[in-house]
Amino acid sequence: MPEELVTALKDADLTGKIVRPFTTHEGSGLGSIPNQLETICPGASITEGLAIMGSSVNSSKSRVEDWI
Ligand SMILES: Cc1cc2nc3c(=O)[nH]c(=O)nc-3n(C[C@H](O)[C@H](O)[C@H](O)COP(=O)(O)O)c2cc1C
Repeated sequence: MPEELVTALKDADLTGKIVRPFTTHEGSGLGSIPNQLETICPGASITEGLAIMGSSVNSSKSRVEDWI
C-alpha cells in the first residue's frame, strides 16, 4: 500500500466503519493490503477486497459492479 495512504488511514478513526480494499496492480493483487489494514485500522471491519489487473481495467466493469 502507498505510504501516503498508510499515513492517512493511521490518522483516521475508522472504528465501527467498513473498509473495502480496492486496487489496480500488475501481478501482486491485493498483496499484504488486507493484513496491513487489519493493523492500521483497529476497530474497523475489513471486508473482501478486489484487485484488477491494469491491462484488464477496460473489461472489468461487471467485476467492479458485482463487487460493489
Ligand atoms: C511506485 C509504484 C509501484 C508499484 N508496484 C507494483 C507492484 O510491485 N506490483 C503490482 O502488482 N503493482 C504495482 N503497482 C501498481 C501498478 O503499476 C498499476 O496499478 C497498474 O499498472 C495499473 O495502472 P494504473 O496506475 O493506471 O491503475 C505499482 C505502482 C506504483 C505507482
